Formats: sequence, C-alpha cells, structure tokens
Amino acid sequence: MKAIYFWIALLLLNTGFLCASEDWGRTGHRATGEIAQSHLTKKAEKRIKELLDGASLAFVSTYADEIKSDEKYRPYGPWHYVNFPFDTTYEDHPKSDRGDIIRAIETCINVLKDDAATKEDKAFHLKLLVHFMGDLHQPLHIGKAEDKGANTFQVRWFDDGTNLHTVWDTKMIESYNMSYSELAANADAISKEQIEQMQQGSVTDWMYESRALCLDIYENTEIGEKLGYRYMYRYVNTMRAQLQKGGVRLAGVLNEIFG
Ligand code: ADE
Ligand code: ZN
Ligand code: ZN
Repeated sequence: MKAIYFWIALLLLNTGFLCASEDWGRTGHRATGEIAQSHLTKKAEKRIKELLDGASLAFVSTYADEIKSDEKYRPYGPWHYVNFPFDTTYEDHPKSDRGDIIRAIETCINVLKDDAATKEDKAFHLKLLVHFMGDLHQPLHIGKAEDKGANTFQVRWFDDGTNLHTVWDTKMIESYNMSYSELAANADAISKEQIEQMQQGSVTDWMYESRALCLDIYENTEIGEKLGYRYMYRYVNTMRAQLQKGGVRLAGVLNEIFG
C-alpha cells in the first residue's frame, strides 16, 4: 500500500505537479480575467464568447499554466516573464531567442488580428493573452536572471519556508483569503476617466511599471527574512492594484481587437 503512494508522488513530481510554478496562481489570474470581463464592450464580449465556446476569461486565464507540464508546450515556458539586469533596460539588453513576455503578448495580439488565422489558433492565443497580461503585472515576472525572478530568493512566509516569487504569485493572495470573484468584486472603484487613463500606453510601458515595483520589492526585502502581516500591510494594495490594472488593460487590448 505504501509503495502505491510512493509511485503516485513520483508521478506527480514527474509531471511537474508539485514543483510547477503557478505565476499569479489560479486566484490571481482568475481575478484579472473576471475584472477584464466586466470592462469588455458588448461586441467584444460576444465575439470572445464565440471564440471560447462560452467559457469566461476567468476560466481560460489559467490555461497557459495548465499546459506547462506537457512536453509539447515546453517552448512557451519563457513567454511568461522577462529578465534583464537591474541597471539596464529591456531595449538595451540582448533579447533571449526563446522569447519573452513582451514578444509573447505581441504574438498573441497579431494572431487575434490575423484574418487568415483559424478559430483554433485564435482561441489558443486568446487564452495565452489573458494569462500573460496577468503575468505582466506580477512585478517579479519582470525580474533578473540570476535568481530566476526571485524564485531562488529564499524567505519565510509566516512559519513556512518559501521564496519571494511564490510570496507574490500565491502566498500573499492566499493569506488575503478572498476568492477570485471576491477580489474582482472588491477591486477599487474607478471612474471612466481613470479606466481610460489606465488603458493608455504600450505593453512595454506597463512592463516598466511592474519593473519599478520589482525594484521597490528588492529594496524592501532581505534574503531569509520572515515575512508576514507587516509585509501584507505594505503590499496588499499594490497586489490588488496590479490585478486590477491587468484586468482593465486586458479589456482595453481586447476591445481594440474585437470591439
Ligand atoms: N523563471 C525565470 N525567471 C522567471 C521570472 N522572472 N518569472 C517567472 N519564472 C521565471
Ligand atoms: Zn510567477
Ligand atoms: Zn504565467
């Protein structure tokens, strides 16, 4: 009987189940999807619903993480983030030939705008776009290569050992203890003007906003530090604002394509 648990554990490890990084985590990605859904134009909403066979943006937001453990989708791994040294810019640093989040988002937008692309291809790239617009707003997805976007930056979260990347992907959101729909419903109230303002700029501009937050996080976190309520108090509204910006901007991009 024990042997069977051993083999199940090994199988899960092998499929990447236990060690898979989840990015914003399911809750964060779904919150961004749900917020985007509420900012779509009627026309965009209808066309997206057709493309996704009735599924919501929240539902498809985690797809890009779900395919990660499938060998076939290995090349999409580097599309979830971009790393470059803190003292350089994205433009000045040599681009990885494996792609990055900026080029991933551009590719998705191009496929969605391409009249010659199949429905299947469009649906695939729409699901990826929903996810990557979320990742773009996770500050540590605009990180540095030495510590893999703080994946090897060890810290404690309350009494558990973890890393800084995971604190931002999942731990802080879990401790906040809201479902994705509660996070979406309780996003800060913003005016039409604020929405338009938020949707201004380019994907690269939004990436640099996340980068600035990334630098702030590194300035305020020590290796091995025990993080908990004080850290939550400092950053929880930053996290909530990033989920909201991701959603509002995703809607802006989708309205432009489908609206
Ligand atoms: N792997 C390497 N760098 C990463 C980053 N910045 N974010 C997520 N995963 C990574
Ligand atoms: Zn992540
Ligand atoms: Zn991701």
